[in-house]
Amino acid sequence: MVFSEFNKKVVLITGAAGGIGSALCRKFLENNAIVYQTDIQHIDNPNFIQGDISDQEFIKKLVKQIIEKEGRIDVLVNNAGICPRTSLLDISIDEWRKVLDINLTSMFFLSQAVLKIMIENNSGAIVNLASAAGQVGGIAVGAHYSASKAAIECLTKTFAKNGAPYGIRVNAVAPGVIDTEIHKKSTKEQLEQYKQSIPLGRMGTAEEVANIILVLASDLASFLTGTTIDINGGQIM
Ligand SMILES: NC(=O)c1ccc[n+]([C@@H]2O[C@H](COP(=O)([O-])OP(=O)(O)OC[C@H]3O[C@@H](n4cnc5c(N)ncnc54)[C@H](O)[C@@H]3O)[C@@H](O)[C@H]2O)c1
Repeated sequence: MVFSEFNKKVVLITGAAGGIGSALCRKFLENNAIVYQTDIQHIDNPNFIQGDISDQEFIKKLVKQIIEKEGRIDVLVNNAGICPRTSLLDISIDEWRKVLDINLTSMFFLSQAVLKIMIENNSGAIVNLASAAGQVGGIAVGAHYSASKAAIECLTKTFAKNGAPYGIRVNAVAPGVIDTEIHKKSTKEQLEQYKQSIPLGRMGTAEEVANIILVLASDLASFLTGTTIDINGGQIM
């Protein structure tokens, strides 16, 4: 899938070292975008800026660095996230805060900083990574994780309402079970159970998620804002 509209567009992807993040980087690079990648883990790339997305100072530094070099950000994908599977009765306040800080608070403040720039340009697209767990409540994943993802769907609508007068679209995707490192702690039995609960009979791939995000960021989705697209093989319908 190649969209000429991304040619030289400035795209910022968080969690770029992960499964979905690296698939997203490949997709936007194939579309000739200028792709800025950020993650807490190192990536060998000249447009990579390493840091902790839950650190407010890092968010400011990240946006400043891109703006100094490019003068604009056209697409933001809020993809960084962690998914502890601690049982509800065992979640501590520190772990609760950590998950909310990384998955939700960072998404809010990075989007806030980028929205200001997009408003000046009267254009832009933001795509957020929610989750099927945010729609049904976490069983296999933590309560903090599912709560953070549910809140992302709501924030997506709020940002969409604020961005719409300036032609800025904000949407989310809610993946089901996607085959990435985030499932490295799942047991074989859990993975088998997941597959059996998915009508299409398999886990999704990072590329399948990246494809939909690319479309959401493109003009093909020009009348779509404030919505969440489910990508779950029919697991929830
Ligand atoms: N894989 C799935 O089944 C699935 C399902 C629903 C939603 N999601 C969401 O998709 C997104 C990507 O997940 P993935 O499956 O590629 O997982 P992943 O673990 O492969 O990637 C997540 C990335 O986020 C980065 N990250 C974590 N904490 C960070 C921090 N403090 N600062 C900066 N970067 C940080 C990690 O280093 C990693 O590279 C996440 O938001 C996740 O919640 C995934």
